[in-house]
Amino acid sequence: MTKLALLLACLAGATFTALKPAVGQNVDAQVQSCAACHGENGVPADPKITPIIWGQAEYWIQKALRSYKTGERQNPAMQAVAQSIKIEDMRPIARHFAGKMWPENSAKTASAPETSARSAPAAEPNGMAVCKVCHQQNFQGGLPAPRLAGLSYEYLIAQMRAFADDQRTDNEDMPKIMKDVSASDRDAIARYLAGL
Ligand code: HEC
Ligand code: HEC
Repeated sequence: MTKLALLLACLAGATFTALKPAVGQNVDAQVQSCAACHGENGVPADPKITPIIWGQAEYWIQKALRSYKTGERQNPAMQAVAQSIKIEDMRPIARHFAGKMWPENSAKTASAPETSARSAPAAEPNGMAVCKVCHQQNFQGGLPAPRLAGLSYEYLIAQMRAFADDQRTDNEDMPKIMKDVSASDRDAIARYLAGL
């Protein structure tokens, strides 16, 4: 092929790609943009405010994106992100992150505040059996509810407080449940879960 022909072929290719993005290209670009906050390797840049999404249950990633987009769940950073995502891209994006490995150790040490939260306390705080009905054994998450094990103490505390104070209302059960849990019990629960 002459240089000119090669150049023309490249230009034609470039135009074609620009006009007709391959299926999934959008999704690829979008999942890369998440790394700025949620981390290149699944450990968020600031786990105190940003949850781990690698290995989170697929349905709950998708649901969260939808709730941020509609404004049912409020957070300036994520609402801005979700605004730019098309509804039909949310499922493939969720599947992408759900298929990754939850970054166990690094997230724990990076996010746990004091030594007590770094190693899981031997005993589960009282009253947590009911949580597992939805959040599943070992708080690994699944269809009924998202994974909690290994999220940071600060993030867990903030979300539980938001449910209790009716700041986070994209779910009907959690606000009711959290109103019945005292602040000191929430603290014990968050420490326990962050250590798992
Ligand atoms: C500018 C930083 C930033 C970017 C970029 C970002 N996020 Fe987030 N994300 C956050 C923060 C902060 C939260 C916690 C918000 C809250 O408290 O509700 C969050 C929460 C989430 C949640 C809720 C998780 C849970 O456990 O409830 C999901 C799902 C999520 N982000 C997915 C994504 C995806 C997918 C992308 C890329 C398309 C992305 N985020 C890009 C900062 C970001
Ligand atoms: C009836 C089922 C159910 C029970 C019981 C339940 N949860 Fe949940 N929980 C959910 C669902 C569903 C969500 C996701 C809510 C949403 O879509 O925003 C959730 C979300 C959460 C979140 C936020 C997770 C995140 O990634 O942002 C925390 C923290 C939490 N629950 C803690 C608890 C604790 C602690 C208990 C026990 C005291 C408990 N839950 C009991 C269903 C339940």
